[in-house]
Amino acid sequence: MDVKEAVKQRHSVRQYKPLPIEPDAKERLAALVKECNTESGLNIQLICNDPECFNTFLAHYGKFKNADNYFAMVGKKSMKDLDELVGYYGQKLVLEAQMLGLNTCWVAGTYGKGKCKASLPADEKIVCVISLGYGENTGSEHKSKPVEKLCDVAEADMPDWFKEGLEAALLAPTALNQQKFHVSLKDGEPVITTKKGPMTKIDLGITKYNFEVVSGHKCKKN
Ligand SMILES: Cc1cc2nc3c(=O)[nH]c(=O)nc-3n(C[C@H](O)[C@H](O)[C@H](O)COP(=O)(O)O)c2cc1C
Repeated sequence: MDVKEAVKQRHSVRQYKPLPIEPDAKERLAALVKECNTESGLNIQLICNDPECFNTFLAHYGKFKNADNYFAMVGKKSMKDLDELVGYYGQKLVLEAQMLGLNTCWVAGTYGKGKCKASLPADEKIVCVISLGYGENTGSEHKSKPVEKLCDVAEADMPDWFKEGLEAALLAPTALNQQKFHVSLKDGEPVITTKKGPMTKIDLGITKYNFEVVSGHKCKKN
């Protein structure tokens, strides 16, 4: 499976088989976590075999099962763009996991923040976690807003790479499936922005990563 296929096949999965992550997959993900941390300055941690983080009322209510493995998305409180970086690098890990036959779910609310096993220096915080495992199912495609609401470029003016990137942006997971992002084209470069709101900056990072990895074009800084 290549990354374009991974973008299409990834859906949130909350119920996992009671299986540990295969050693090769774990090693690959641990290496990628290291790479992401070096590049971004984040302190992402891969935590395995911890049944406690999702052993809370909210997690059970949210139908999580055997969610014993997760990425803890940690970074310095003072970091500019902390949420966006978490989104961007988290999605890189999510797509790698998908290519390794694993399923994932971004989780900012329905887990036990106080029970999370991440090591947390005083100047850092957990932004969210991403659960990880071999799914009992493969999830299902989310409903998307009409493309005209999310992009102001006329189809006739879209280069092929932009169309592909836009399709990947529409497939990006967003908190509560809110899709508050907007995709545009300025001087031949893609620009993705977001409306204000809870978790929209995490969503923005996720959406930018999906767009960039599929289109091969970097988004303009904003
Ligand atoms: C930043 C973020 C936070 C999320 N938090 C939760 C959560 O607390 N609990 C949960 O069950 N799902 C959570 N989700 C998953 C979304 O509900 C899901 O991604 C969205 O409905 C789109 O569906 P899809 O991931 O299958 O494409 C979160 C997603 C994102 C991106």
